[in-house]
Amino acid sequence: MRIGIDKIGFYAPHFFVDMEKLAEARGVDPAKYTIGIGQEKMAVAPITQDAVTLAANAALRIIDEEDLAKIDLVIFGTESGIDNSKSGAVYVHDLLGIQEHARCIELKQACYGATAGIQLAKGHVALNPESRVLVLGSDISRYGIGTAGEVTQGAGAVAMIISAEPRILALENESSYLTADVMDFWRPIYSETAFVDGKYSNEQYIAFFLNTWEEFKAKYGATLSDFEAICFHLPYTKMGLKALREVLDEGSESDRERLLAHYQTSTIYNKIVGNIYTGSLYLSLLSLLELSHDLKAGDKIGLFSYGSGAVGEFFAGTLQDGFKEALAAAEHGKLFAGRKEVTVKEYEEIFSHVLPVDGSNIELDVESDPATICIEGMEDNKRIYLNKTR
Ligand code: COA
Repeated sequence: MRIGIDKIGFYAPHFFVDMEKLAEARGVDPAKYTIGIGQEKMAVAPITQDAVTLAANAALRIIDEEDLAKIDLVIFGTESGIDNSKSGAVYVHDLLGIQEHARCIELKQACYGATAGIQLAKGHVALNPESRVLVLGSDISRYGIGTAGEVTQGAGAVAMIISAEPRILALENESSYLTADVMDFWRPIYSETAFVDGKYSNEQYIAFFLNTWEEFKAKYGATLSDFEAICFHLPYTKMGLKALREVLDEGSESDRERLLAHYQTSTIYNKIVGNIYTGSLYLSLLSLLELSHDLKAGDKIGLFSYGSGAVGEFFAGTLQDGFKEALAAAEHGKLFAGRKEVTVKEYEEIFSHVLPVDGSNIELDVESDPATICIEGMEDNKRIYLNKTR
């Protein structure tokens, strides 16, 4: 039985800031941000969006009545969780109207959470072939105004249905993974923004990629020529390129050309959204599948997932017959075209808007947010969510 990604949807909030303008405001050469880091636009979340609403809005784009009746497991991967006890998956389950005989959980291991979700979903479907699993990767990346990490912020969510006989990508059983206790990036529970040792984080990312790739080759006798493309977790688009370059010499000239060309396609969406932590690898996969013109059924795609702290995994999937028809490139194009640019000053103001943490109530202006699912306010220490279609 083949098991894998049957549907994949994406959502980003409707505001973005231009990276050249951000560079000017920070007194930095814009080429550092656009070439050195490789980012063009950064999604900015208004106060009416959090990890739950972003995930629910991403899932809304792919879910139909049959999914609502058949989903029996919702796995919410995030490092921007809104509650230390209750999982974001329970809110999404309710906001979408999924049938009640379902399990709902939240998973945390930095940007690796959605990959862990996919692997657990695969096991669940293997035991329950009729089941559909909704896997969510949703985050708002916040390092802080004027920090070195500011240029690698972003916001957005990816939602995937994992099922038997998937229409997009069948996941292979081949996989290599690695854990080591490293402090490259972390966010203590009292902090709204992340702490990062940027250079060390880059080194660890590359070391984890090389380690899992070597392990994958040793286990399965794989070579670069087996892969039509390799997608990477992308905190910023230069990061994956640095890792890919480390192994390109193992391949032929045509391997190098093919992998580099597909790498560029796999970064187009990430360049205009920014870092979405758990969803970043899958946004890159979406960019590759929706924007590439020369992929075909049977092509093997390598995927490298990395979650600081750290866990890394290299795994693989095979494109399925008719995968293009199961994607929603036009809809995602519309989403990007409909976004509104904000000035650096406006972005800084939006960044400073946070929900009350002292128990006071607040009512938010949901009319100014075009998203279907929003936070309406806070009451008695509870976030109140709204699905405008209900
Ligand atoms: N034109 C073109 N490139 C330029 C440039 C210019 N004018 N000025 C600098 N650059 C290049 C640098 O050479 C460097 O490239 P390299 O990484 O290939 O060597 C790149 O831009 C970044 O410059 P650097 O001085 O290293 O940036 P920084 O100290 O401001 O930090 C990060 C950059 C990514 C480390 C920082 O944003 C960060 O900590 N981000 C969060 C952590 C993260 O994303 N971790 C990744 C693993 S999950």
